[in-house]
Amino acid sequence: MKPQDVMTGKTSLWIFGYGSLVWKPDFKYKRSMVGHIQGYKRRFWHGDNFHRGNDKLPGRVVTLMEDDDANTWGVAFEVTGAQVEESLKYLNLREAVRGGYATKSVDFFPEGGVDQAPVTALVYIATEDNPLYLGPASPEVIGAQIAMSFGKTGHNLEYLLRLAEFMRQSCPHVDDPHLFAIEAAALAFVPYLLAAQ
Ligand code: SIN
Repeated sequence: MKPQDVMTGKTSLWIFGYGSLVWKPDFKYKRSMVGHIQGYKRRFWHGDNFHRGNDKLPGRVVTLMEDDDANTWGVAFEVTGAQVEESLKYLNLREAVRGGYATKSVDFFPEGGVDQAPVTALVYIATEDNPLYLGPASPEVIGAQIAMSFGKTGHNLEYLLRLAEFMRQSCPHVDDPHLFAIEAAALAFVPYLLAAQ
């Protein structure tokens, strides 16, 4: 995309969300489609010291790790005209400045689209060299961390539960053992937190 296209509002852009964007895009868009990208697995391996955690107790949010055998399901949003510049400005603050994510271009495959060609989409990914990166841990450790963390946007548990709800409702045919194991571990940890209060 050329800068002048953005300025003149003549273009369209697809943005792929696989974390909080699937249930809370918070920017104006023309249309959205559920679907997947290939070659990436979604993992709660990125730290969050703004939206869902803080410096003392960083939350755990998702990022994408390259994996030739994996697909990641989410939602792609098409923004057009002035929405392109508006959404990029908004997401740059939300995802890049506050979240530590960088942009990448991927092929997005809409669901059920035998006759649908993939579309190129922008995606926000946080890599291992990001200072906020936390890396792998057991579902129990990640679930406990999520159950205890909250930030300026809300509780980390909300982020996890809404993502799991999206997968159950919008992608019922897709198994996501990483997500659902962490959801179960986090929910199992909640009674201990309540008892300790
Ligand atoms: C994000 O998009 O990663 C942050 C927003 C949120 O946690 O609700």
